[in-house]
Amino acid sequence: MTPHGEETRESGGTGSAEGRLGGKVAFVTGAAGGLGRSHVRRLAEEGADLVIVDICRSVDTVPYAQSTPEDLVEAVGEVEELGRRVVARQADVRDRDALQEAYDAGLDAFGEIDVVVANAGIAPLLVEDRVQAWYDAIEVNLTGAFHTVEVALPSMIEAERGGSIVIVSSTAGLVGIGGASNGGLGYAASKHGLVGLMRTYANNLAPHSIRVNSVHPTGVATRMVADPAMVEFVAQDPVLSAGGANALPVEMIEPVDVSNAVLWLASDEARYVTGVTLPVDAGYINRR
Ligand SMILES: NC(=O)c1ccc[n+]([C@@H]2O[C@H](COP(=O)([O-])OP(=O)(O)OC[C@H]3O[C@@H](n4cnc5c(N)ncnc54)[C@H](O)[C@@H]3O)[C@@H](O)[C@H]2O)c1
Repeated sequence: MTPHGEETRESGGTGSAEGRLGGKVAFVTGAAGGLGRSHVRRLAEEGADLVIVDICRSVDTVPYAQSTPEDLVEAVGEVEELGRRVVARQADVRDRDALQEAYDAGLDAFGEIDVVVANAGIAPLLVEDRVQAWYDAIEVNLTGAFHTVEVALPSMIEAERGGSIVIVSSTAGLVGIGGASNGGLGYAASKHGLVGLMRTYANNLAPHSIRVNSVHPTGVATRMVADPAMVEFVAQDPVLSAGGANALPVEMIEPVDVSNAVLWLASDEARYVTGVTLPVDAGYINRR
């Protein structure tokens, strides 16, 4: 992997650290767009300072665009407008060294990191199927989340302040709905793999009072599902297009619905919640 570790921005806000995450610092991947941007906004609204990372360039096997460096700068601006501090880096979660550099820059700036949100993910679902799509799904969605947690653990354990790690999986991490393509199988396998990772970390880290949970959203209105290339892909895949609807009368949920679950798991309100797979799915899984 090529490192994409160039500095984007560091800044100091002036707002007070009140709110459900007042005084805490959160590390969020895939932060420039979609759900990640929403998590960043919601955590900052509740008083967190942020260390944010995004690849900011497209991935060959993914038919919709990833975020841009401009999107990352916009995310920085949103945090600043909320009066919180932010360190931002362009980095690929597959590149552990670049991710470590980003994390360490946040640690230098803030002295501690309490919350980790492993959110970056791709759905490499090309109409002209390619085996590489399997590898990309596994490397970004599963290995990337592993890297995200691993770069954070030494300082979190050493700080002895406890903490919360939230891994963004999917309904495709709990039921077999990836479809028949290489990328779809990789997506479902990676999202299921995150559950094993989460459960094992939850056991390993409980003695340090570090909680680890996963969230499992149904379809959310982001580029990952709304982009025309993805709509076309789903329509031509008989397994995916027969996927069924949510139980609650809503076609797609909003990013903030997932961010509110992330916020709760990150906060002390969930202080004895660990090892949990939390669906944010409008009843999708229960209905199957
Ligand atoms: N949108 C949905 O319907 C849905 C449903 C269930 C789960 N999810 C999961 O939610 C997470 C966010 O998805 P989204 O809908 O916001 O997608 P998105 O494509 O809108 O945003 C993903 C973000 O991650 C970044 N990113 C992609 N690859 C990266 C990498 N290798 N390193 C760092 N950053 C990278 C992108 O630039 C982008 O900013 C993913 O893990 C996804 O699998 C999404």
